[in-house]
Amino acid sequence: MGSIVQVTDLVKRFGDFTAVDGVSFEIEEGEVFGLLGPNGAGKTTTISMISCLLDPDGGDVTVSGHAVRTAATAVKRELGVVPQEIALYPTLSAAENLAFWARMYGLSGAALKDAVSEALILAGLEDRSKERVEKYSGGMKRRINIAAGILHRPRVLLMDEPTVGIDPQSRNHILQTVKDLNRRSMTVLYTSHYMEEVEFLCDRIAIMDHGKIIAMGTLNELRAVVGGMDVVDVKVEHVSDQVLERVRAIAGVERVDRTDEALQVLTPGSGSILGKLVATLESEGSHVTSIAVTEPNLESVFLHLTGKSLRD
Ligand SMILES: Nc1ncnc2c1ncn2[C@@H]1O[C@H](COP(=O)(O)OP(=O)(O)O)[C@@H](O)[C@H]1O
Ligand SMILES: [Mg+2]
Repeated sequence: MGSIVQVTDLVKRFGDFTAVDGVSFEIEEGEVFGLLGPNGAGKTTTISMISCLLDPDGGDVTVSGHAVRTAATAVKRELGVVPQEIALYPTLSAAENLAFWARMYGLSGAALKDAVSEALILAGLEDRSKERVEKYSGGMKRRINIAAGILHRPRVLLMDEPTVGIDPQSRNHILQTVKDLNRRSMTVLYTSHYMEEVEFLCDRIAIMDHGKIIAMGTLNELRAVVGGMDVVDVKVEHVSDQVLERVRAIAGVERVDRTDEALQVLTPGSGSILGKLVATLESEGSHVTSIAVTEPNLESVFLHLTGKSLRD
């Protein structure tokens, strides 16, 4: 299987500001590819150029060999797009809203009916498809967004932070839907600032910050960025700069990053440093409330590469 989406040196500027700054990646057919980055990283701008909503200022994108600059119509046929919000008619039912979108894709008659019912099933909305959308929860509206994105059976689905601001149950449902769609051989580009979702869903992940891809690979490849290290997460109150320096000086402490109320300590072996770590913190008047040793996750990778938390 070859790559179905190729993004090459993509650039987008808004005035003097470069929102997407030379981004390149390829998505293999059949994979779930994650674009992980904090708010403002440039994820939506990148998706908007792939889906022909924005013209690139540099570089190019091809989808199934069609370039966005010269063959937008062919590109759009290959793609389903799930933005955070689509315009829905509140007084119409889910099925009626989807029928509207299906007509926009040029479907009619039996093909339209089939596409709508299949999309409703995939989005888990078939039971309530006749209810007015205004009675739906935020999570159910998001599921209609997904249904609308797959009506024309695209080969590639672009999903832009589809779980932001919804309840955990709908969120789990959406994650499961992505898995199901992928099992039915749909290629997915999934953007998020939630590292757990990207870890759960994605075959490969690009980490984006300030318009650039700063790391890319499978979860295990990205973990290796942090090296064969343990990550010690210490929740702690009252950390002075002075105590931070003393922690950094402990033998076996490779690196210390500070976020709001926590320290993340990288070490080749946590066994030898835990006692010293707690004693050092407490002796300087810091109060340790919890301590946990974990494998590096995408949060630690991001922190390691940028010195800041994904959640900041
Ligand atoms: N139309 C626009 N005009 C000016 N700046 C924009 C515009 N769209 C996005 N930006 C800026 O570009 C950066 C990247 O935005 P965006 O792609 O939406 O990031 P993300 O989706 O990763 O949160 C942000 O700093 C944002 O403020
Ligand atoms: Mg965005």
